[in-house]
Amino acid sequence: MIGSRSVNMLRAGLRPLSVAALVGLASTCHAQSAVAVNAQDTAGGTKAPSIATCVACHGALGAGTVTGGPRLAGKDPDYLAHALSMFKAGTRASAVMQTVAHNLSDSEIRELATFFSKQNPPLVEGAPPQQSLVVAGKQLAEMGAGSGVPACFSCHAAGGKGNGARFPGIAGEPAAFVVARLHEFQARAKEKTPAPGTMTAVAATLNDAQIEAAAAYLSVTRP
Ligand code: HEC
Ligand code: HEC
Repeated sequence: MIGSRSVNMLRAGLRPLSVAALVGLASTCHAQSAVAVNAQDTAGGTKAPSIATCVACHGALGAGTVTGGPRLAGKDPDYLAHALSMFKAGTRASAVMQTVAHNLSDSEIRELATFFSKQNPPLVEGAPPQQSLVVAGKQLAEMGAGSGVPACFSCHAAGGKGNGARFPGIAGEPAAFVVARLHEFQARAKEKTPAPGTMTAVAATLNDAQIEAAAAYLSVTRP
């Protein structure tokens, strides 16, 4: 999904960012306050958090990308900061994100998490999913399936908007990301019996059709 070229670009160091890049971002996105802070940091000689680096893979304002870069916009800031800390510590898998997070300081992590939590860009527009999948996905998200699969929104809150730092918002996630992430949870469940009530345990109850349906529905559902 992510080519080695992008990783090399990262290693080559896309930061520190130019103030011009950040100002360009500000004019397209009305994110004046966060960007002003960054511009000031840069002017003062400290390293600016690399928002432009992030949007290369996470889309404008963290909307996500059709190819599976997750949507960051609007997620709980503590969830985002925790995810970045886990990538940094190597306790959450992702070669790409471990490379990105490796260089971030705690205050940069906090600033990036705050920035993306406050954004609200439009949904990513991929090929529209089949309506039948969207309908099945909505049913699964709201009601679950039989006694085996719990309703997604029982943990991820109504509309998939997320609940605090533990249960991330999942509405608006690109389908490719949801599919990849659910398969990853399933792979983990095969390695080691998951603790009840975890996402790994839930994923283990899903079949491929349910994963496709949930992904289709979430990708067209505004957070
Ligand atoms: C080269 C591409 C790339 C770049 C650059 C990148 N990311 Fe990511 N990021 C990803 C991918 C792919 C994932 C999904 C990883 C996974 O769970 O398998 C991800 C996951 C994340 C997550 C977890 C999201 C979630 O909902 O679980 C956060 C938070 C995140 N990135 C923040 C950032 C920030 C902040 C930056 C900029 C400093 C950044 N990323 C730069 C590709 C990238
Ligand atoms: C029992 C509670 C629970 C239920 C039910 C549940 N989830 Fe989750 N889900 C979680 C937790 C907790 C996480 C965070 C896992 C982590 O960070 O390791 C999560 C994470 C996720 C993620 C990754 C989000 C991200 O940004 O990285 C996706 C996608 C997801 N869930 C989809 C679903 C779908 C689809 C369903 C319904 C079929 C569902 N979840 C049902 C608890 C739940």
